[in-house]
Amino acid sequence: MLWGSRFDKQPDELFARFNNSFHFDWRLYDADIRGSIAYANALARAGMITNDEAREIERGLKLVREEFARGEFHTQPNDEDIHTAVERRLYEWIGEPAHKLHTGRSRNDQVATDTRLYVMDAIARVDSAIRQLQSALCQQSEQHLNTLLPGYTHVRRAQPISFAHYLLSFFWMLQRDREHFADAKKRASVLPLGSGALAGNPFNIDREFLARALGIERVSENSLDAVSDRDFIAEFLFAASLTQIHLSRLAEDFIYYSAPEFGFIELDDAYATGSSLMPQKKNPDALELVRGKTGRTISNLQSLLITLKGLPSTYNKDLQEDKEPLFDTVDTLAMTLPIVGGVIQTMRVNAEKMRAALDESMLATDLAEYLARRGVPFRHAHHIVGGLVKLAETRGVKLSALSLEDFRSASNAFDDDVYGVFDFDGSVKSRNVFGGTGAVREQLQLAKDSQSRVE
Ligand code: ARG
Repeated sequence: MLWGSRFDKQPDELFARFNNSFHFDWRLYDADIRGSIAYANALARAGMITNDEAREIERGLKLVREEFARGEFHTQPNDEDIHTAVERRLYEWIGEPAHKLHTGRSRNDQVATDTRLYVMDAIARVDSAIRQLQSALCQQSEQHLNTLLPGYTHVRRAQPISFAHYLLSFFWMLQRDREHFADAKKRASVLPLGSGALAGNPFNIDREFLARALGIERVSENSLDAVSDRDFIAEFLFAASLTQIHLSRLAEDFIYYSAPEFGFIELDDAYATGSSLMPQKKNPDALELVRGKTGRTISNLQSLLITLKGLPSTYNKDLQEDKEPLFDTVDTLAMTLPIVGGVIQTMRVNAEKMRAALDESMLATDLAEYLARRGVPFRHAHHIVGGLVKLAETRGVKLSALSLEDFRSASNAFDDDVYGVFDFDGSVKSRNVFGGTGAVREQLQLAKDSQSRVE
């Protein structure tokens, strides 16, 4: 144990289990060992240990790291947390120099540093997983620039759009997610090490050296804040929750679009499951789980925020509760992102079904716009076309089946070129404003260019 001489008793057995965090925080081993190697070198630079001792510590720590990496680290009952376990094992490898490593350091500045390194690594992995999903969206978009389907509002067919335009809407959500993560990384990249338990290190430890050695951008300005600042985890969990929400919304659409009643897409068998009872079923479980796991991701953010609320200043053991939500969210994203990517890459798109779902009434807006181009105030045009929609409906015919007389008796701004409006492709092409469905080719290019530029 790292403490205990001032106590008369061993901890209660149940309490010891309650207090221990090794069963989850072992995952910080790589960050913990990197931090300790840097710290040993800083101690040597400060003259607190010899260069030989620092080298010995570094050698021993690397042996411990290898044991973890190979899954061969054997934990002991007294391994209270990852920091205790690493130091215990280091002593078993190298003996006495191990007991100098913790000079001037506390587990408070240590765990804060470890968790920051862990989050920085996690952000790099998440970013590359999001990029891969964006690439899958771009690849499908490339194939479906001219594939039309109904665009929906209120789950009611609204206006025709290009399927690429639809897919790329998710590209931009994910692009914002990457920006959130990149931003969170800036706040994660701050060094608490050197803050000690709360008041700061007394041994002239070179914190700038430590930051450089660990690839961290800046050093924290206040030791009291540094040992208890978990804002960077909250930011990570928020960015992750929004990402999951975006994936969940995509999943929701795709569950409907792949239902036989829609038939717009067919999910690959590799991402579907069957029913134990109904032999004919092919269920979109992958997407349902993506949607379902969003709840736990949001809860992980809530959980941390609630832990932080009302904490007294500096380190309190409540902060040990920051890690399980963090790890759970990292694990969730590590699965949902590639699974959604796989679903998109392998799905079959049924362009005929999409087109068959287009309905002429979805061009009513285009009809009103036709009148607006001829000088009819849009509010009147809207009213006139509403009347025509009703007329067609009562006759049980399509809008384009109305005669020119019908059109002209509604407004004399109509001419025989009005029938040119009933063209889904023309409607989509006409909405060629920047960001519109008619400018989707340019948008795809822009998406590909922006993919490599996230600051
Ligand atoms: N396992 C602890 C945590 O995750 C490490 C810090 C312990 N510090 C302490 N003063 N007990 O927060």
